[in-house]
Amino acid sequence: MAAGSYTWRQPQVRHWCSLALAMLPLLRQCSSRPIVQKPISECEPSHTNFTADSEVETELRHYAPRKWHGKLDYLLSTLKRRVVDRRIPGAVVELGTFEGQTSHMFRRLIDKFDPGRPFHCYDSFQGLPSRRPEDSKQVRKEDGEGGMRAGRDEFIERFKRERLRLPDGIHEGFFADIAASEYPSPIAFAYFDGDLYSSILDSFKMVYHKMSPGGVIMVHDYTTEGLFPGAKKAIEDFLRDKPEHGVLECYSIIGMVVKAESK
Ligand SMILES: C[S@@+](CC[C@H](N)C(=O)[O-])C[C@H]1O[C@@H](n2cnc3c(N)ncnc32)[C@H](O)[C@@H]1O
Repeated sequence: MAAGSYTWRQPQVRHWCSLALAMLPLLRQCSSRPIVQKPISECEPSHTNFTADSEVETELRHYAPRKWHGKLDYLLSTLKRRVVDRRIPGAVVELGTFEGQTSHMFRRLIDKFDPGRPFHCYDSFQGLPSRRPEDSKQVRKEDGEGGMRAGRDEFIERFKRERLRLPDGIHEGFFADIAASEYPSPIAFAYFDGDLYSSILDSFKMVYHKMSPGGVIMVHDYTTEGLFPGAKKAIEDFLRDKPEHGVLECYSIIGMVVKAESK
């Protein structure tokens, strides 16, 4: 036998081979495990077993880092299935864009599946406003007033770097201070990610009445346990006297509201 070669008879070779064989079913399970997972416990309204849209998944696999998949899959699959495929009329708007992590994926999805649909982004580009009692105590340094700040230039740079069309409108200011005329009408899909009670409430105030029937509002931080419990309170407070009453379903920490037909 040549020096350095191994045979099945050698105990250490037998050991490693049996270990590899024992791990095969586990490896197979990991590689075929769907991205879907059950919503977290406080997402009670409907325990939707969400399955991603396969075309959206393909886009995500190309362009988005793995750690965002759960949320982004839900967000983008809902945009495609409920709005693009059903041809709900109106623009896509995102309130609270930060560096454009989700915005650039909205851009990609719209360009791929529905290039004529307008897309508008809104941010103070000065970070978060101050907290209110509904927001609970600040835990992380970056979540205080002025935290999560990304400049308008930084936001635009991301689109340029990735060779993407800019949004049709980049609107700067606190949501409630931006002129009503800068919010398009109708709106088919809205994503609210302003973190705080006042920011989510203001988002509803500026956008809700412009939503097409069947249009979708998705709100991040639909949770009582996370860093931003004010967002969930704002959804509940705003929708209390509206025909939708609350979120129709949720997944991860995103709640989905479908605009009812007006009577
Ligand atoms: C969590 S980040 C958004 C993250 C982004 N949607 C993403 O997933 O990549 C929150 C953003 O909302 C903005 N923001 C929060 N409240 C706001 C308000 N009332 N008016 C304008 N911008 C606000 C902040 O400046 C910050 O950029």
